Amino acid sequence: MRISVIGTGYVGLVTGACFAHMGNNVLCVDVDREKIDLLGQGRLPLYEPGLKELVDRNVNEGRLSFSDSTSEAVRAGEFIFIAVGTPMDEEGSADVQHVLDVARRIGEALDGYRIIITKSTVPVGTTKKVKATVKEVLKKRGLDLTFDVVSNPEFLKEGKAISDFLNPDRIVIGIDCPNARERMQALYDPFCRTDEKRILFMDVASAELTKYAANAMLATRISFMNEMAAICEATGANVDHVRAGIGSDSRIGRRFLFAGVGYGGSCFPKDVRALIKTAQTLGVSSRVIAAVDAVNQQQPRQMVSKIKDHYGRGGLAGKTFAVWGLSFKPETDDVRESPAAQIIDGLLKEGAKIRAYDPVAKEPFDRMYALPVEYAQDMYSCLEGVDAMVLITEWHQFRRPDFVRMKQLMVKPVIFDGRNQFDPDYLLERGFTYISIGRAPVNWDRNC
Ligand SMILES: NC(=O)c1ccc[n+]([C@@H]2O[C@H](COP(=O)([O-])OP(=O)(O)OC[C@H]3O[C@@H](n4cnc5c(N)ncnc54)[C@H](O)[C@@H]3O)[C@@H](O)[C@H]2O)c1
Repeated sequence: MRISVIGTGYVGLVTGACFAHMGNNVLCVDVDREKIDLLGQGRLPLYEPGLKELVDRNVNEGRLSFSDSTSEAVRAGEFIFIAVGTPMDEEGSADVQHVLDVARRIGEALDGYRIIITKSTVPVGTTKKVKATVKEVLKKRGLDLTFDVVSNPEFLKEGKAISDFLNPDRIVIGIDCPNARERMQALYDPFCRTDEKRILFMDVASAELTKYAANAMLATRISFMNEMAAICEATGANVDHVRAGIGSDSRIGRRFLFAGVGYGGSCFPKDVRALIKTAQTLGVSSRVIAAVDAVNQQQPRQMVSKIKDHYGRGGLAGKTFAVWGLSFKPETDDVRESPAAQIIDGLLKEGAKIRAYDPVAKEPFDRMYALPVEYAQDMYSCLEGVDAMVLITEWHQFRRPDFVRMKQLMVKPVIFDGRNQFDPDYLLERGFTYISIGRAPVNWDRNC
């Protein structure tokens, strides 16, 4: 099949590479010339495990190519995916201007039947607007061409994007045209050979809303556990035990129940807020989702407060903190809405100095936030002469560090752990001051 993907970011590039991997001919397009130039030189504009190898192989075997021309994409593909960004606007809604801009460009270049697919996360009604926009442009051109527009939201996780795309839990397709249904089924059949029921056909509005509902549900679990962690701290309970205790209930399940400094990234914060905005606009109450967002906004601030509380009157001025992790989660260089930015900013405002280390996200973090941060070459040199370490992203390499070496490097062995990576008792025994989220060292009752 011939496929065009417009927007070559985290979603578009993975989508293009994975469709090419299944034997299709794919053209990936982006307005960002720099990205297209990089891809032309065999370099990736982003970090995603396994993506470089997949892109290289498919480019070398002639199934994947890149361009900055939307009209070329429209001519080349029988399926045209729109995978451009839908960032948050000033009011908290999803800004769909890039999606509609692509729709206009498609209308300007359309020359026959195509299936246009909104893969970007868009508020209910946007896919209809895409259709109307293409129609309007065609009308201006004096053309009456047939085309179909389908909603196919993406559920991949950065860091595991390729396996998510190749082995999806489900493929949601919102459709109101029978012709396109058969073609969409054929397009996705290779991804669900063992279980064709993984393709869920539904109406367009339900498909669009499913994406927001999924992200809001996952965000809800995280904020719920963060609230539990605060209650644990106040009561002396341990959120790890509470998590294990509820996660073993098959109705609840174990995933997305970790307390921490809050969720970030390019999806949850903006999608939760966009859903609140949609509900508001329609006069529907969204109290649960609004609370999820409010709890999350508080989490990074709470970490800064914990650090300030620890130092009390002495304050943070003149202290140096090592920060481990800048990306919003491990295995990605995506720093959009990363809690690291808010925590570092909060510490800097208190007069602290920051030395940070991240395995891949240093450049994107520096580019996006331009904070006065010193960047270290590795996780241990980051600790030299610091007053404390703040762990923000749970990269694998941070999970079992050499604590003896850490203690030697740090002026004071103090760890603020924003992801509950270490055992409080173990660290206490080794002479660390260890402050995490919703957990305290066990106070054994020696008399019983
Ligand atoms: N990143 C994720 O994990 C993820 C997961 C699921 C869904 N989504 C959704 O997918 C969409 C894309 O997200 P992303 O993270 O890949 O964004 P991104 O910012 O990484 O990439 C978007 C790309 O679109 C390009 N672009 C913008 N306007 C364009 C135009 N008119 N023509 C061609 N290219 C254009 C940009 O230059 C950019 O390269 C968003 O709606 C997002 O919410 C993202």
